[in-house]
Amino acid sequence: MNLHLSTRVKLIQITCIVGTRPNFVKMAAILEAARGRDNVAARLVHTGQHFSPEMCQMFFGDLSLPEPDAYLDAGGGSHAQQTAEIMKRLEGEFLSRRPDLALVVGDVNSTLAAVLVAAKLGVPVAHVEAGLRSFDRTMPEEINRLATDVLADYLFASEPSGVANLRAEGIPDDRIFFVGNVMIDTLLRFREASSKSTVLSRLGLEAASYAAVTLHRPSNVDDPGQLTRLMAMLEGASKRLPVVFPVHPRTRDRLKEAAIRPVGLQLVPPLGYLDFLQLEAQARVVLTDSGGVQEETTILGVPCLTIRENTERPVTISEGTNRLAGTEPSAILAALEDVLEQPRTAAKAPAKWDGRAAERVLDALTDRLGGAAANAC
Ligand code: UD1
Ligand code: UDP
Repeated sequence: MNLHLSTRVKLIQITCIVGTRPNFVKMAAILEAARGRDNVAARLVHTGQHFSPEMCQMFFGDLSLPEPDAYLDAGGGSHAQQTAEIMKRLEGEFLSRRPDLALVVGDVNSTLAAVLVAAKLGVPVAHVEAGLRSFDRTMPEEINRLATDVLADYLFASEPSGVANLRAEGIPDDRIFFVGNVMIDTLLRFREASSKSTVLSRLGLEAASYAAVTLHRPSNVDDPGQLTRLMAMLEGASKRLPVVFPVHPRTRDRLKEAAIRPVGLQLVPPLGYLDFLQLEAQARVVLTDSGGVQEETTILGVPCLTIRENTERPVTISEGTNRLAGTEPSAILAALEDVLEQPRTAAKAPAKWDGRAAERVLDALTDRLGGAAANAC
C-alpha cells in the first residue's frame, strides 16, 4: 500500500470588521500583512457606521484597501440603536461564514457590536489596540474598550500601559500580546506617498507655520456652550498663527445646530488620509481630541496639544510629543504659547512602533490557531 504523505498548511479564515475612519487606517495594516501570507484568508466586513465619501470611500482609495466583501449599511443613530443595528446585521454574516476568528480594532461601536455577536456565537475574537484606558466612563469609547477586552480571546496591546491595564483587570498573560501600533504601521507605509500631497498649496499654507486642528469628542462638541468656548479659543489661536480645521461630520452638524460661525479659522471638510498625514507632518502644532492623531504626531515629531482632561495613550506623553492641554480655553492658549516659544524637538518612537505590529499580530494568531502547522494527510 502506498501511504501518500503531503504537508498542507491550514488556512485560517479571519473576518475583519471595520466601521469608522480610524478603523480603516488600522485594518489597512492587518490586511497588508495578511496579503503576504498563504495561510491567512481575510474577509473584510464594513458595518457602514461611517458612510460619507470623505469619511469612508476616500480612505479605501488612499489606503489601497480592497472593496469590502460585505457592506452592512448600518449608519448612525443613538448608541443603542447603532450598536444593535450593527449586531443584527453582523449575526447573519457570522452564521453564514463561521470564520475561525473575528478580528476587531480600536474602540468604536462597530468594534463592540462585532465582539458581542462573535463571542455569543462562539467565534474567537482578536482585539487589536487592547488595554487602552482613559479611566473615564463618560467616554463611550471607554465602555467599548472595557466590554471588548473582557470578551476577546487574543488581546494585542499597542503600548505598555495596555498590557498593565489588562493585567490589572485580571486578564491572564497568555491572552495578552505586546505587538506595537498598527496605526503607525500604516503611517510608515504611506508617509512617502503622503509627502507628495499638494494639500499645503491647495490650502495656502506654509510648512511649519500653522496649527492643524481636529475635534469630534462628544464632550467637546455636543454641548453648545463648550463648543462655543472652544471655537472662541481657536479664534484666539488664529491671531497667533493660521489655523486649519478639517471638520468632522459630528462637529459640522453641532456647529450648524448651534449656529456657531467661527471667524478667522480655515474650516475645511475632512481630508483624505494622505492629505491629512501631510497636513499633520508639516504643522507647527496640532490641537486635537483624536486618539489616533495623538499617536501619529508622536511619530511625526510634531507637538500635539490634546484638548482633553485625560488620555488612554499615555506613552504619547511620556515618550512622544503629546501634552494634555485640558479643555479650558485659557489653559489651552497658554499651552499653545508655550509650544510656539520652544524649538521642535526630535521625535522618539515608543517601543515596537516600528511598522511591524501587524506582522506580530498575525505571527501570534498563526501560532495559536495552528495556521503554520504542517499536517500529514
Ligand atoms: C465615532 C466613534 C469615535 C471615533 C470616531 C472617529 C463611537 C461611539 N464613536 O464617532 O470613537 O473617534 O467615530 O471619527 O463609535 N456622520 C456623517 N458621516 C459619516 C459619519 C458620521 O455624516 O460618515 C455623522 C452622522 O450624523 C452621525 C454622526 O456623524 O450620526 C456621528 O457619527 P458616529 O459614527 O455615531 O460617531 P462619531 O462621532 O463619528
Ligand atoms: N484623519 C484623516 N483626515 C482628517 C482627520 C483625521 O485622514 O480630516 C485620520 C488621522 O490621520 C488618523 C485617523 O483619521 O489616522 C484618526 O481618526 P479620528 O480622529 O476620526 O478617530 P480617533 O482616532 O479619535 O478614534
